[in-house]
Amino acid sequence: MHIALFGATGGTGQQVLAQALEQGHSVAALARKPSKLAATEGLETVPGDVLDRAAVKTCVSGADTVICVLGSHGGKEPIEARGTERILEAMQEADVRRILVVTSLGVGDSRDQIPFPFRLVMNLTLKRILAAKEEQERLIKASGLDWTIIRPGGLTDGPKTGTYRSGLDRSLKAGRIARADVADFVLRQLTDATFLRRTPAVT
Ligand SMILES: NC(=O)c1ccc[n+]([C@@H]2O[C@H](COP(=O)([O-])OP(=O)(O)OC[C@H]3O[C@@H](n4cnc5c(N)ncnc54)[C@H](OP(=O)(O)O)[C@@H]3O)[C@@H](O)[C@H]2O)c1
Repeated sequence: MHIALFGATGGTGQQVLAQALEQGHSVAALARKPSKLAATEGLETVPGDVLDRAAVKTCVSGADTVICVLGSHGGKEPIEARGTERILEAMQEADVRRILVVTSLGVGDSRDQIPFPFRLVMNLTLKRILAAKEEQERLIKASGLDWTIIRPGGLTDGPKTGTYRSGLDRSLKAGRIARADVADFVLRQLTDATFLRRTPAVT
């Protein structure tokens, strides 16, 4: 399969990239700093920012599936909603239909899946990022495309275990999960339509 990947230089993105290449997929990865991605067989690096329409179009062109693991830090304007808007536009233009997007537990109808004291802290410290992710999810759901929104719990850099829990059960509470396991779950969606137009948790 040919994958267009946004966020490849990030913690989860690097895991998605490595596992996708390992599985024999080819990947076009958009990167603001291409030097962060080592040249590897099967990888095409597309230099650019996700707000750059031409670069996003180049990245999406010819993809079977788009994977978005964009994230924001600190005081900067969160990128999730505006970046995703560009990706969805490029997908509509190129007639690419499948998109897998990592957001977070705590967004939308998963708010109650964050245990109480953490929910309070999250709402106080991540208010702008959560709002951007709410808008990101709204745009995806309104796109008419074949989307899956994946909502992880707290991310760690531990090894892939394959022992995480996932699904639509809203009683599933957010715990920690390795970025490598999130990547594993994301890539499983390439060949599994169980969560088509759904918002599974992984934790
Ligand atoms: N941290 C947690 O515990 C937690 C919990 C649940 C969900 N999440 C969410 O899970 C996702 C993955 O998290 P992560 O920590 O693995 O991500 P991350 O390391 O923060 O990576 C973010 C990625 O987005 C890219 N990016 C940001 N702005 C961009 C722009 N304008 N144009 C192009 N690329 C841009 C970054 O590129 P650069 O390398 O150029 O900066 C990087 O590749 C995020 O959406 C995060 O909010 C996190």
